[in-house]
Amino acid sequence: MKILTVVGARPQFVKAAAVNRVLCEKHTEVILHTGQHYDESMSEVFFRELDIPEPDYNLGVGSAGHSAQTGEMLIRMEPIFEKENPDWVLVYGDTNSTLAGALVASKMHIPLAHVEAGLRSFNRAMPEEINRVVTDHLSQLLFCPAQKAVGNLKLEGVTSGVHIVGDVMYDAVLRHSATAEKKSTILSSLNLESKKYLLATVHRVSNVDETQTLLNILETFGMLGETVVFPVHPRTRKAIQTAGFSLGENVKLIEPVGYLDMLWLEKNARVILTDSGGVQKEAYWFGTPCVTLREETEWVETVEAGWNVVVGTQRGRIIDAVRNVSPPAARPNLFGDGTASQNIVRLLENERK
Ligand code: UD1
Ligand code: UDP
Repeated sequence: MKILTVVGARPQFVKAAAVNRVLCEKHTEVILHTGQHYDESMSEVFFRELDIPEPDYNLGVGSAGHSAQTGEMLIRMEPIFEKENPDWVLVYGDTNSTLAGALVASKMHIPLAHVEAGLRSFNRAMPEEINRVVTDHLSQLLFCPAQKAVGNLKLEGVTSGVHIVGDVMYDAVLRHSATAEKKSTILSSLNLESKKYLLATVHRVSNVDETQTLLNILETFGMLGETVVFPVHPRTRKAIQTAGFSLGENVKLIEPVGYLDMLWLEKNARVILTDSGGVQKEAYWFGTPCVTLREETEWVETVEAGWNVVVGTQRGRIIDAVRNVSPPAARPNLFGDGTASQNIVRLLENERK
């Protein structure tokens, strides 16, 4: 079986790394990197640390507005799909790279499989929500991390080819945690003590591109009275520089860190503040309480389990949530048992028989 995998943005490298390991035992995987993320710290470091083979193709699309970026991907992908003629195109998550892969595959009648299907924020102002909905409706195989995603798809009339497989990011966490502990020196290099700092990430358009919202988040970080380690996404770095914001002395702004350092920072943080999807789940798997800086989340299971609070960006709510975290003792397996990649490969194989 020949699988053509489309990746392009940071979280997709983590997800594809987990599946690649299993897929390559028996099958051929062609990796196509759209080039949506291109900084060393946003792309190459993940290929190196997670042992992902060098991409067979890199479209080098880079940054642009949604239409120009997605359009350029479509144009550059088509001849490659034609040449490779895979049995499946495999796409991950909800980025513009996901959407482009899905559109080209379906126009060319190549079977399409979507990992992380059925996730919904029910907020169509989010660019990711459009990408998810369209990709799910074009896919022949839909790999859901948990039951809620299946319910979301059902509400939209999507019931065929839908499977619960667990979450491939959990596979990656289980595989790499021990290495992170062994290799990461991030705590000592930043002079941090376990459980005595907060970890923050912010990159959602709604938080970054609204100057007043970003200013409020940064000012709130400065008022938390604890060290806040803040690996800053390039979108956010640019916005901070453009607006000329200064940060509180307790806020350690650092470049985006590699995956192993990130896992170790997450595990040792007292609380994580984030608007990332992946980081909310990783916080849960490490048993680190999470405060989500959004008005809604796709990962409602973590909220229902009591380990994640969704507070938006209002100062009082953020400060209150960080000071008063009180997660329960129980932390059940919400997104499978770490065998999502095996389940995905088995289902792809079965479908071809
Ligand atoms: C994208 C995804 C988002 C995902 C995130 C993961 C879309 C619509 N959004 O958002 O769902 O959560 O990736 O991190 O696909 N930039 C650099 N260097 C890079 C990459 C980006 O400087 O290597 C800067 C550029 O100024 C660019 C901006 O970051 O314009 C935003 O990048 P882009 O890929 O468009 O969106 P993300 O915010 O990264
Ligand atoms: N991540 C990382 N270094 C960082 C920030 C995030 O390795 O400085 C990892 C994080 O551990 C997770 C993934 O990137 O595995 C999440 O990506 P991101 O937050 O950019 O995107 P989202 O999940 O919101 O789509």
